[in-house]
Amino acid sequence: MPAERLLSAICPGSYDPVTNGHLDIIGRASEVFERVIVGVVDQAVRKTKTVFTAAERVAFIEEATAGLGNVEVKPFSNLLVDFARENSAKVVVKGLRAISDFEYEFEMNQLNRKMAPDIESTYMMAAPEYSFLSSSGVKELAMFGGDLEGLVPPAVARRLQEALER
Ligand code: PNS
Repeated sequence: MPAERLLSAICPGSYDPVTNGHLDIIGRASEVFERVIVGVVDQAVRKTKTVFTAAERVAFIEEATAGLGNVEVKPFSNLLVDFARENSAKVVVKGLRAISDFEYEFEMNQLNRKMAPDIESTYMMAAPEYSFLSSSGVKELAMFGGDLEGLVPPAVARRLQEALER
């Protein structure tokens, strides 16, 4: 492992489903940090039900990151800061797309900082080609038969189309 790579980092999210934008952030984090743990929220933290179970969401990310030797994928259902501590990670990495993300992330940042000032949240700007891409947008497209090419991994596109046709 190159000496300039630092620490372990958590890339947390609902990932329902993972998009190519998420995978871009995970890949970039894996270039910077020694070890990246992708934390998949295994609980309805939102009122809306997920399309895929946590095990399915984990499997999609595992398949898509199989070529990255320093990335692990784990479900979690406790506080993000506790999950980070359990994994000896002091850094959380999230992607930021637009001003609309900033407001939500700023709130989460303040809450997480209050609970665990020792855990630092950091943000990577979405690549321009993914700055419009979200899991909810992808689900909406899939529901109406839109083309998901280039937005999610092919296996996710197939499963999403099946799941939403049902
Ligand atoms: O926007 P996402 O992808 O649904 O983000 C999920 C997560 C956990 C990263 C976000 O909700 C967050 O930062 N939460 C902090 C509060 C917390 O720990 N919630 C419990 C999650 S199991």
